[in-house]
Amino acid sequence: MKGIVMNILAEMVETQLGLEEWNNVLDEADESGIYTSTAIYDDERLLNLVGILSQRNNIPASDLVFAFGQFMFPAFYKRYPQLIDGHANMLDFLESLDSVIHVEVVKLYPGAITPGFEPDRRSQDQLFLKYESNRNLCRLAEGLIDGAASHFGHDYTIAHEPCAHHGADHCGLLVSLA
Ligand code: HEM
Repeated sequence: MKGIVMNILAEMVETQLGLEEWNNVLDEADESGIYTSTAIYDDERLLNLVGILSQRNNIPASDLVFAFGQFMFPAFYKRYPQLIDGHANMLDFLESLDSVIHVEVVKLYPGAITPGFEPDRRSQDQLFLKYESNRNLCRLAEGLIDGAASHFGHDYTIAHEPCAHHGADHCGLLVSLA
């Protein structure tokens, strides 16, 4: 995972749990906490930090990953508003994840491995995304979508079926605007 992702995790923990907690987590993980945003770090390191945070704070890892996605959306917006502004609503934005957003991300962060989000626009108010990634971070995707909904000011529902954590080879995310 790119260092930017590690840095945003640090930002979240420092903001929500405090600098002392982040330093304790880093100590336990034997990490320095210094990450270059464009460098690549083994996914295990991020997952290890999440696991330690989960245990120390008694929060299920899947809830933490969702919260990380919620925090990540505005963190990306702060850095790259031009990638997000200009979309009339969240579904138009999400529809462009594969074809525009993550393509631009790979230009900004060469070597980034972004997931597949094949869109199927079912109606004006409904979009199905087929999420495919060996990382199986569908809860991160759900959190990012939740962050995007807050950003665009939408009420929405999401149905997650199928799910790679339950034996499928991909996840399906059906996002409906209320
Ligand atoms: C709601 C919209 C978005 C969703 C659902 C989404 C989803 C994801 C997910 C689930 C991953 C984890 C990697 C994986 O699953 O294989 C990821 C990686 C990433 N995304 Fe997105 N993303 C969104 C928008 C953005 C935006 C707006 C940016 C930046 C402007 C961005 C930048 C990145 C970066 C830098 C990575 C890390 C890739 C790597 O380290 O190799 N994403 N995205």
